[in-house]
Amino acid sequence: MAEEGKDSAVTLRINPSRVLPLRLLQFFLVFLALGLGVSVFSMYTTKYYKVQNVPPITQSVTAESVTKPCFEEPSSFEGWIRPPTKLLHTMNDSELFWRASLVPRIKHYPFKRIPKIAFMFLTKGPLPLAPLWERFFKGHEGLYSIYIHSMPSYEADFPPSSVFYRRQIPSQIAEWGRMSMCDAERRLLANALLDVSNEWFILLSESCIPLSNFSIVYRYISRSRYSFLGSFDEPGPYGRGRYNRNMAPEVNLTDWRKGPQWFEINRVLAVKIVEDATYYPKFEEFCRPACYVDEHYFQTMLSIETPHLLANRSLTYVDWSRGGAHPATFGKADISKDFFNKIAESKTCLYNNQPTTLCFLFARKFAPSALEPLLELASEVLGF
Ligand SMILES: *[C@@H]1O[C@H](CO)[C@@H](O)[C@H](O)[C@H]1NC(C)=O
Ligand SMILES: *[C@@H]1O[C@H](CO)[C@@H](O)[C@H](O)[C@H]1NC(C)=O
Ligand SMILES: *[C@@H]1O[C@H](CO)[C@@H](O)[C@H](O)[C@H]1NC(C)=O
Ligand SMILES: *[C@@H]1O[C@H](CO)[C@@H](O)[C@H](O)[C@H]1NC(C)=O
Repeated sequence: MAEEGKDSAVTLRINPSRVLPLRLLQFFLVFLALGLGVSVFSMYTTKYYKVQNVPPITQSVTAESVTKPCFEEPSSFEGWIRPPTKLLHTMNDSELFWRASLVPRIKHYPFKRIPKIAFMFLTKGPLPLAPLWERFFKGHEGLYSIYIHSMPSYEADFPPSSVFYRRQIPSQIAEWGRMSMCDAERRLLANALLDVSNEWFILLSESCIPLSNFSIVYRYISRSRYSFLGSFDEPGPYGRGRYNRNMAPEVNLTDWRKGPQWFEINRVLAVKIVEDATYYPKFEEFCRPACYVDEHYFQTMLSIETPHLLANRSLTYVDWSRGGAHPATFGKADISKDFFNKIAESKTCLYNNQPTTLCFLFARKFAPSALEPLLELASEVLGF
């Protein structure tokens, strides 16, 4: 059958009725060759006439910008270190992760690098608390960058004046407790890694708020020796009970960790997460509901790989005291000075191995109705 089909294709090709298109093709090819010749010649002459006194490296740049105005190639040093101008690229995950995993081996930056915090919002759609965040970021340009991963169907409509304007990254559906959620987090990290100045990476949701002003957040994170990933060994059905023996030897029961999804990590750990091909297949196959992979994968993996870099606690306050499968959501009626005092007094912890009462920089979960009282209290209670 297949052979027969091939034969008839050959017959078709030498059929006299095909000769005319063939001629046309030949003509076309000759013209194409001519066109190419002319453009190469003009490229050469532009180069020759325009830039005789410029050193060789700039010469090729000039020639390129003359002939290919739309093609961006990092032929100058600035081109390598400039953050991508468009976040909506066309790379798929394999391409993006590979690109994001490139790490310079020379540790000294040959330029003035001001380390930034990447705020990564993992959302379903809108950001109802955006006005509060706008106020938080105001006046701190150059010290942060923002990335948003939302449902692919959601179209954001932030005005050009907003810090969230065009900060959406190519997104896919992310389901709670499933690997697609970790994929979305890795996608956020990979996109943020493309900016060489991003040094710290914070994962937030649309229901998160900052508890301090930007200066305090920046100082706390930049001066910490550890990354803030909640990670603990929990006996019982919701901790070790979710471990599957098939994960050994990459992950043994004693390595198994649990922790909240919302993390703050540095660049080293972000690359570890994006490049991982050792633990990913194990978690993908053996940690499915009722094993909620976003509570175990990064927590376990980083505790095995880089335990000395982890603070083992999260910076994001959450209230589980009401019981149930989901933490408390705070609305308009909950917001008061007293409420924030309680959060501030709720815990002591270690910061760079010293005891402190400043343990949380963010909090969740806040309903859209909380926005108004939050804006009213922000300058007095949150410091911005
Ligand atoms: C991305 O594209 C490359 C090249 O087409 C392909 O080999 C790879 O499997 C794709 N990856 C994903 C995750 O789709
Ligand atoms: C798990 O245990 C095996 C056998 O004792 C050991 O070879 C392996 O290194 C352990 N894995 C980790 C991540 O420690
Ligand atoms: C975090 O836990 C790991 C064990 O999983 C431990 O090695 C590390 O020292 C802990 N970090 C701190 C800051 O105590
Ligand atoms: C940030 O908050 C702290 C404490 O609330 C305050 O002392 C400081 O002045 C604030 N910084 C700015 C830039 O508002």
